[in-house]
This record gives sequence, structure tokens and C-alpha cells, in this order.
Amino acid sequence: MRIAVLTESDPAEPRVAAVPETIKKFKGLGADVTIQSGAGLKAGVPDADYEAAGATIAATAAEAATDADLVLKVRRPNEDELKLLKTGATVVAIMDPYGNETALKAMADAGISAFSMELMPRITRAQVMDVLSSQANLAGYRAVIDAAAEYGRAMPMMMTAAGTVPAARVFVMGVGVAGLQAIATARRMGAVVTATDVRPATKEQVESLGAKFVAVEDDEFKQAETSGGYAKEMSAEYQKKQADLVATHIAKQDIVITTALIPGRPAPKLVSETMVASMKPGSVLIDLAVERGGNVAGAKAGEIVTTENGVKIVGHVNVAGRLAATASSLYARNLFAFVETLIDKESKALAVKWDDELVKATNLTRDGQVVHPSFQSTAA
Ligand code: NAI
Repeated sequence: MRIAVLTESDPAEPRVAAVPETIKKFKGLGADVTIQSGAGLKAGVPDADYEAAGATIAATAAEAATDADLVLKVRRPNEDELKLLKTGATVVAIMDPYGNETALKAMADAGISAFSMELMPRITRAQVMDVLSSQANLAGYRAVIDAAAEYGRAMPMMMTAAGTVPAARVFVMGVGVAGLQAIATARRMGAVVTATDVRPATKEQVESLGAKFVAVEDDEFKQAETSGGYAKEMSAEYQKKQADLVATHIAKQDIVITTALIPGRPAPKLVSETMVASMKPGSVLIDLAVERGGNVAGAKAGEIVTTENGVKIVGHVNVAGRLAATASSLYARNLFAFVETLIDKESKALAVKWDDELVKATNLTRDGQVVHPSFQSTAA
């Protein structure tokens, strides 16, 4: 079995799909691994480290991908990369399938079996493969680091001979995986932290991290969680009440970090222009939802916008990628944990169990067709 790891063709993607630790594990399963030269450079892994772990270095993507049975990537292969893959090759990556039907069709036409890591079910067996969690956790951490860097003041309270510096007030909106890590990080840096979410279960989590929970806790709020543990879209009436509460609160904050998402929907608009305008000059908003439409009015993907009243709205994209080395290590481990289940230990060959629930949940294309039920219409 031949495994290829390609350099990400998107210049904005510094992560890599394998690290020396996972190369060794793949070798242990009897695979030959080829790495495209330079694939790990932006994540701090030189070719020599991959070679030391037992990989072969290929000069080009074409050379690496030729004859590969399994191709590992961070992002979905583009048209040029698809031309390099052999028919029937298996490709595992973060495929970003929603709204990208043309790209799914292209993968089906290329005859590859494509697996999308972010569709992994959130069940106990698959926790180790959960890329949404591994990357969101880092994004939440990095959001606080980015906020601290943009904020022209100190985070913790300091009592100095020259006087007392007050602690920064940080408000985290959306307490999923990213939000929880943002709360924990801001607390570690000495900020006074508050947080909000529409899921009642988060109240206790927020408080257990030493932060204060801020939300309209009416009957609708008490029902606001799907059986899958995700947020529901809230009624207009609730949103209004919550917005009024948040408006008063935000005016007193120094840093606001938004992470609110609803699966399959655009990100909810939580911070209006008026709320931004109510903040003090020098305050910072970090919008982690910017790639999904944004939680903050005026946020721009890939930009730091400074408003007329001197508030910075930070819209970094691929925030986990801003910690490329750590993000790659965790992603590579998620990937190994899944790929291991696709390999037959005896024959040391790929042996995908097509009726396995993890396979069914993540498999997008197979035998020239788009096979995933959520994207079936594209197969026609
Ligand atoms: P996500 O990235 O989909 O959303 C982030 C947060 O935004 C969520 O907490 C959501 O409730 C919140 N949100 C949505 N609309 C909002 C609004 N209008 N105002 C304020 N907040 C709003 O969520 P993520 O991080 O993927 O986590 C979702 C759930 O899945 C959580 O309960 C988490 O604990 C759970 N989970 C379960 C795992 C498992 O293996 N069982 C693994 C990881 C997460």
C-alpha cells in the first residue's frame, strides 16, 4: 500500500496532513509513505524529519501521487491535483463539501473515493478522529492570543508602583469547543471573563471555568439544544431580547470573541454596528465565524478593520492554521486514527468496510458517483 502526502496547493493553508509521528505509525502498518518535498515546511517539519521517520521524498506532487492508493491532504484536491491521482485512489481531507457541489462532481468524475474528515460523527469511538474539535480548540486559544496582541493594554490586573492596571474584560459569544478554550485561555491570562450561548448546557461549563454566564434564560432558551448537542436557530423574539441584554453588556467589554455557528446555516449575526460603536476606542473583536458569514457586523474575512471609533474587528481566516505546527500534529493524529480503520492489518492493504458507520458518514464519492446522502442530487 502506497500513501502520498501532498503539499497544500492553497498558499493560505500552512498545515500538513502528516507529521513524522504518524509516518512512523503508517510504516508500522506496512505502508510505504511518500511526501512531496516541502509539504511540512510551513508547519515546521523539514523533509529530513520525514525521511528520518521512514518516508520517501518526492520532488513534485505528480511524482508523489503516481500509484498512490491513499492520498492524505488538509484541503480538498483541486482540479490539477485530481489529474495526478490514479483512478480508484482514496483521498482523505477536510473536504468542505457544503455548497461545493461542482467540486464533489469533479472528484466523482476523477474516480476517487473521497472521505471528508469534518463529517465524522461525534460519537465516542470517533472522538480521536474529530477534526472539528481538534482545530476549533486551537482556534479558540489563538483567538485570545490574537486579541491580546491587538489590544493596546495588559490582560491581567497589575498592581505596580506606578499605579494599578485593571484586568481586561473579555466576552465570549458561543461556547462550543472554540469558545470553551477561549474562556480558559483568557482566564489563564488574567482577564475577567463572561460568556453567552443559546444552549443551556453551556451555563455550567462556563461557570466551571470561572467565568460568568450572560443570557436571557427564558423557556425557549431551556429547550434550545438539538439531540445532537448543537444550537437551534432561535426565534426573532428571543434574538431581540438577547440582543438587548448583549448590547448593554458589550458596551462595557474590552475584548469580544465570537465563535457562534449553527450547522448548515449562515453564522448568526450577534454583534450589530451599534454595539461595535458602543465599545471604547482600543477595544478588539475577534470573529471566528467570519468564514461562515460572520457574527460581527463589519467583519471582513482576512482583514483587520478599524472602525471610526477606533475599535478593531479582526477577521483572520483559518485561525487553527495560525498555529500550523500544533494544528498539523493534531490533524495528522485525527487522520491516522481514521485511516487505520480503513487498513487490513493482515494483508496490509486498504480494505474499506463500506457499511461501517464512520465510512458511511464521511464517504463523499465512490466509483464515479457522489454517494453521500446529503449530496446525492449532484450525482445525477
Ligand atoms: P459549533 O462550532 O457548531 O458552534 C459554536 C457555538 O455557538 C455552539 O456552542 C452553539 O451553541 C453556539 N451558538 C449558536 N448560535 C448562537 C447564538 N445565537 N448565540 C450564542 N451562541 C450561539 O459548536 P461545536 O464547538 O462544534 O460544539 C457543538 C456541540 O457539540 C457542543 O455541545 C460540544 O460540547 C459538542 N461536542 C461533542 C463532541 C463529542 O464527541 N461528543 C465533540 C465536540 C463537541
